[in-house]
Formats: sequence, C-alpha cells, structure tokens
Amino acid sequence: MDAEIESATWGRNAPPVGEPPAVALIDPKYPANVGMVVRLASCYGLSQVWFTGDRVTLDPARGERLPREERMKGYKDVRMVHHDRPFDRFPAGTVPVAVEVRAGAEPLHTFDHPDRALYVFGPEDGSIPAALHRHCHRFVVIPTRHCLNLATAVATVLWDREFKRWQRGEVEYPTTPGEYEGRGQAEAPADLVSRTDR
Ligand SMILES: C[S@@+](CC[C@H](N)C(=O)[O-])C[C@H]1O[C@@H](n2cnc3c(N)ncnc32)[C@H](O)[C@@H]1O
Repeated sequence: MDAEIESATWGRNAPPVGEPPAVALIDPKYPANVGMVVRLASCYGLSQVWFTGDRVTLDPARGERLPREERMKGYKDVRMVHHDRPFDRFPAGTVPVAVEVRAGAEPLHTFDHPDRALYVFGPEDGSIPAALHRHCHRFVVIPTRHCLNLATAVATVLWDREFKRWQRGEVEYPTTPGEYEGRGQAEAPADLVSRTDR
C-alpha cells in the first residue's frame, strides 16, 4: 500500500479514536483547505485533522489526493480522518473549542488553551452550524477587523497555543524547521530551495 494512503482513515466504518490536541474542519470546501491545515498540524505537532461533509472526499480508492503543493514535509505525520461525527470519537477530557466570530466568545489574546483541545472551524464559505455548538465547551474569537481565511485562522490559533506554551516554559525554545529536521538552525528547507532554484 502507498505510504501516503496509510495515513488516512475513511468512512463511518473505520474506528478512529481522537487524539487531542487536534483540529476538526466542518464541511470544508476544497481539498486545499484540508491540505493547508494538515501542513499546519504537522508544523505545530498535532497528530490529527478531522473533517466532515461531502465536499472534500480525498478517497484514495478513486485516486483522490491532497493537492501536490500541500504535500509538504511532515504531512504524513498527520492522520486525516474523514468522519461525520468527530465529537463522538474523542475521549472524555477532550475540550471542543469552537473558533468562531460570535458574540460572547473569548478573545484569543486572553484565551487559555486546554491541553486536550479539539479546535473546531467552519468552512471558507460558512460557519459552524448552530446544531454543533452544543458539542463545544469553549468559544474563541480571533480579534481581527475582518474574517480571516480558514488556513490563516487555524495558523493563528495554533501559533497562539505554541507561543503561550513557550511563555509558560512548556517548550524549551522555539523549534526552527532547520533544527527539527536536523539541517541546522538557519538552513532553508530543501523543498523551498528546490522551488526557488527552478
Ligand atoms: C473564512 S471564515 C468564514 C467566513 C464567514 N463565511 C463569514 O464571512 O462570516 C472560515 C472559518 O475561519 C474561522 N475564522 C475566520 N476568521 C475568524 C476570526 N476572526 N475569529 C474566529 N474564527 C475565525 C471560523 O472558524 C470560520 O468559520
């Protein structure tokens, strides 16, 4: 089996178990939306990205894959799970956090991230359906003048989580890509170099 496909679990019959911290995308519109979030999860050390709905299928049996530009270093470390009821699949102690522009939501600036968070995001062309709000224990808004695009919203939240962990001394130092990949602290990633060389 293609190693790329092993990272995926498909359909209702699969028995995936949620591993927080994780991200859940509600009814994403395009494969690129999922791809960008998989990349972000990989960058910040989250092991799962769940997504619902039928607009993105990424069914390996039909040869559907993430767009090439999203298949960047580290993305295979992240398990993509296409499942319509992600909340049911996470263990007790998971804290679903709706990231939404919503009255009464906590501003991200002062948000204390739960260790076992499941960050829930709406689609590019919509928002988290009201029926799913009851599954969410916390609501957080990113203080911005206008709505961010989905990937930027996810990136902001994951960056904020990492930064606050660093402030609390939970990570020893900010990890650079070069350091993590064993290329030295300052080197540019190989895939970036090969792109700029073309
Ligand atoms: C492009 S936004 C959706 C925009 C929505 N259709 C609108 O115009 O109001 C995609 C998702 O990113 C998240 N998002 C974007 N900007 C946000 C912000 N400032 N605060 C919290 N969540 C945000 C939400 O989860 C949202 O559902």
